[in-house]
Amino acid sequence: MANREHWGSKFGFVLAASGSAIGLGNIWKFPYIAGQNGGAAFIFVYLICIAIVGLPVVIAEILMGRTTQRNPVGAFRKLSGSKFWTAIGGLGVVAGFIILSFYAVIAGWSTGYMVEALLGNFGQLATAAQANTHFNSLVGDPTWMIGFYTIFFVFTMAVVFLGVKDGIEKGSKIMMPILFIILIILMIKGISLKGSGEGLAFLLKPDWSKISGQSVLIALGHAFFTLSLGMGALMTYGSYLNKKTNIPNAAVQIVFLDTLVALMAGVAIFTAVFATGQNPAMGPGLIFNTLTVVFGSMTGGYFFGLLFFVLLTVAALTSSISLLEVAVAYFVDERGWSRQKSVLLIGSAIFLFGIPSALSFNLLADFTYNGKTFFDLADFVASNVLLPVGGFFIAIFVAWIWGFDKALIELKHGAENIFKDRTWLVTIFKVFLKFIAPVMIFIVFLHSVGLLESTIEQLKNYWIIIVLCIVMLAIMISRKRIKK
Ligand code: TRP
Repeated sequence: MANREHWGSKFGFVLAASGSAIGLGNIWKFPYIAGQNGGAAFIFVYLICIAIVGLPVVIAEILMGRTTQRNPVGAFRKLSGSKFWTAIGGLGVVAGFIILSFYAVIAGWSTGYMVEALLGNFGQLATAAQANTHFNSLVGDPTWMIGFYTIFFVFTMAVVFLGVKDGIEKGSKIMMPILFIILIILMIKGISLKGSGEGLAFLLKPDWSKISGQSVLIALGHAFFTLSLGMGALMTYGSYLNKKTNIPNAAVQIVFLDTLVALMAGVAIFTAVFATGQNPAMGPGLIFNTLTVVFGSMTGGYFFGLLFFVLLTVAALTSSISLLEVAVAYFVDERGWSRQKSVLLIGSAIFLFGIPSALSFNLLADFTYNGKTFFDLADFVASNVLLPVGGFFIAIFVAWIWGFDKALIELKHGAENIFKDRTWLVTIFKVFLKFIAPVMIFIVFLHSVGLLESTIEQLKNYWIIIVLCIVMLAIMISRKRIKK
């Protein structure tokens, strides 16, 4: 397709892709899971996961997109010609559909809290319990919930409607600098509070006793979510690149910015939480309950509270547009729809599908399956099943089916200088993509659907057979090598 849209610059692409990566995952989720899992020790494990699993899969996704100039379905079809792999691409489009439907609900809370901050409503909240009651009364009100969900959704659709260059890229170029400036202001404010040292120590001093197999799996699962991996979001963004872009370099920048924002958000939040004597291990309520009390009690809290919820909403918006873009790109590429028609029809369909999630906190709260509300189910199916499955197959596909060597030739376009005289770099990338990433992702998947323990039990029973299989496989592979 000669007239496919493209990014205006590499910088624009990096901002848009970091915008996808940086979202509720960084500012809402990362601080609270770090808080629950041992602070610095957890962060250390998380950084390793980002480097050895996250980065290789980020590169693989962007590369598939750029090579094929297609949405995930078209990308898999073009490279494999097989129905099975095309369906894996379809899984990505479905995952984007589902994630956006519940992601926009939390983003709707954030939008609503922006207005709460504007109205000065945090000043009356003296304890976390009061803040919690306030939170419950807001999300318990279907009108409030649906209202802000709708407002957020309209913004998401508007940006994608305007196109890759004039909507997503331009929007990211405006929103991402705002995000960084706000975050820096909040970080300085946090550090300047009396007693903030304790918060910094919490983030920097590792408590190794809290690290368990469980927390490693949480870190790895989160690395996936925060980098927008596993459903072709980065693939779709990569499909608007040309061959001159240095992909490894762009990928490192995206991963770096995403990690930086998570850490900065951690500093801004924990300095303030400790300085005002709140509980750091509060869990999902850390932002909407603990932090509102923090703002209520600090000088200038009105201003900083408002800034914070603007930050959270902007971060969510640059992520949600990438989720919508995946489905839109599918209908544009594969069905020949116009971008505008796709945004209006598909956007509306996702919006409607999200309404039961928005009502899961009020009217439909008792409508559960296995104790999970509609919102919980959507989150579970997408985050715990579809994303790890997608990520696993993307790594396997690029490394084994498309083939590492063919992929490498493509990767070298625009990145000649990185790979020149550095065969070790190729070897490392190869080992990570072929073996380490798929195995680690598979383990995360078993864990997230609750099958890890029983699988390990089974492995214990059959270890002799497994060892024999591995030995035979190794012999077969080495014989094939010798024949060559
Ligand atoms: N990465 C985003 C965050 O941290 C969420 C997100 C956007 C996402 N696009 C995605 C997650 C695609 C998985 C897949 O909030």
